[in-house]
Amino acid sequence: MCGIVGYIGDHQAGPVLVQSLEKLEYRGYDSAGVCTNDGQKLIVEKEKGKLKELKKATDDGKKVQGTVGIGHTRWATHGEPSKINAHPHLSSSGSFAVVHNGIIENYMELKHELSANGISFHSSTDTEVIAQLLEYHYNGDLVDTVIKIMPLLKGSYALGIMYREAPDKIIAVRKGSPLIIGIGENENYLASDVPAILDKTRKIYRLAANEIAVIKRDSITVYDTDKNVVEKSAETIEWSMDAAEKDGYEHFMLKEIMEQPKAVYNTIIERIKDGRVVLDEIHLTAEQIKSFEKINIVACGSAYHVGVVAKYIFEKILRKPVEVNVASEFKYSDPIVDEKTLTIVISQSGETADTKEAMYEAQRKGSYTIAVVNVVGSAIAVEANDVIYTLAGPEIAVATTKAYSAQLAVIYMLAIYFGDILGKINQEDYRNYVSELLALPEKIKLILNKAEDIKNTASKLFARKDVFFIGRNIDYALSLEGSLKLKEISYIHSEAYAAGELKHGTISLIEKGTLVIALTTYEDLHEKTCSNIKEVQSRGAYVLGIGCENMQLLVRSADSTILIPKTCDIMLPSLAVVPMQILAYYIARFKGCEIDTPRNLAKSVTVE
Ligand code: AGP
Repeated sequence: MCGIVGYIGDHQAGPVLVQSLEKLEYRGYDSAGVCTNDGQKLIVEKEKGKLKELKKATDDGKKVQGTVGIGHTRWATHGEPSKINAHPHLSSSGSFAVVHNGIIENYMELKHELSANGISFHSSTDTEVIAQLLEYHYNGDLVDTVIKIMPLLKGSYALGIMYREAPDKIIAVRKGSPLIIGIGENENYLASDVPAILDKTRKIYRLAANEIAVIKRDSITVYDTDKNVVEKSAETIEWSMDAAEKDGYEHFMLKEIMEQPKAVYNTIIERIKDGRVVLDEIHLTAEQIKSFEKINIVACGSAYHVGVVAKYIFEKILRKPVEVNVASEFKYSDPIVDEKTLTIVISQSGETADTKEAMYEAQRKGSYTIAVVNVVGSAIAVEANDVIYTLAGPEIAVATTKAYSAQLAVIYMLAIYFGDILGKINQEDYRNYVSELLALPEKIKLILNKAEDIKNTASKLFARKDVFFIGRNIDYALSLEGSLKLKEISYIHSEAYAAGELKHGTISLIEKGTLVIALTTYEDLHEKTCSNIKEVQSRGAYVLGIGCENMQLLVRSADSTILIPKTCDIMLPSLAVVPMQILAYYIARFKGCEIDTPRNLAKSVTVE
């Protein structure tokens, strides 16, 4: 999704802005631009396409003069990707420049009103109305003007604003999309995400919703919408630069696949004490936990797929009904949730607009919310009733891998923790679950050691046009993730089906050479899935089976197999997902796809 950067200090701003934008490339974008103030005028440079175009046009930023500036990478929502629609956007007289993440939902209405007052527009974007509104309403005080236009803007936004006559400051404001301010020595920074400024400073302020910051070279003042000064406490970013670098790997995705043992280990290790799962982050009493009649899970994409796995696990262990909702649908379906419903919100970024809205809806209906989030201090983490952080470290590749695995680890811990309180787990099972949980990182490593074999399999399969992932029960939940991983980075059409459902229609698509990836890690349903393998093979499909080491029937049934170590039933997804990630990665690589930033996608989707 779009990225914002800003700089004010003693150095030339252009090169700093371009370098910071490079650090945000992973978020996905289709044009980029910068604006600086040379003390007399605002200078805007922007280009369609990748950052290298902007770098070429500005000689790596050196051509734009001034020691204050803002920059942007745009992921098109309103108006095609083009130089005109790229940010920053200027007001008519060139006095205001704006970069914007988010969406202004009522921009047509605002554009109409401003046009009626003689203001002409140059782009098709919603953002340009903000620059025009600022100029139109400017009353001699920047903060007052920003406060005045905020209620006029419906939707979500994070803004970086510059005013021609005020070369000593950048104004930042947010409602919805995240913004951070990097604190330096005689220089300060603005960014929508930490990696943009990590090589410059580790001390940051996170701007909360409806806060306005005036960022100068030697001061940062934050106001609320009544213009009261807000005292902010600085946060120190602990992760190393390596975490945000490729560290010798060709792609972030491969690096992050390989980091999964660590991500799972870090997520569980501090939460298992003396053989017990201890979730200090949860403030619910045992009585409250017992009082829940149902569990509601809301999330998007891969996080939703973790939710589907969770449904099988929670229902199996807790014997309570679990609903998993695609977050974008939840709010608008008049959902049946109340104070007897526990809502679990899953999100890597903690900023996904659909998930956030779904959480608010659940809270409005009286439901207690527990968020499972990776990004510390993100909106969902802060606004949920409780938060359990996954400790996967920063995830850069658009396709999630290590965050998915860390989320699964939290789900297992929640199942064990709740199961114990509800009296649904006997002590022997409890011990077994905990010991399997602790063994997961090493077992994941065993699968990572097979990466070369899986690469070899990928080399034979990358030219397929259609792929079906099938599985039953928890393997079906897993096949959803396998299918998404493959299609999002390799652009191969792929679908996930419950293995028994295929024959009710979709099997008509199977023909000679269709690739079917059959997941059958769950022992109890292994034979049934093997029958489904035979059904598709007899219609010409080539079947790659993924199952456990002891599954001889699968080895005999499938055309080729990838076998994973055994673990307890509920934790099989943590192992089975790994070969699917590696397979998707190498298939995309053999196809020459842009793996870390796939077309049309963004790392964190902050618009509804
Ligand atoms: C997964 O590979 C995707 N990039 C996407 O589906 C992602 O999981 C989804 O957008 C949710 O993001 P979140 O976890 O940051 O809320």
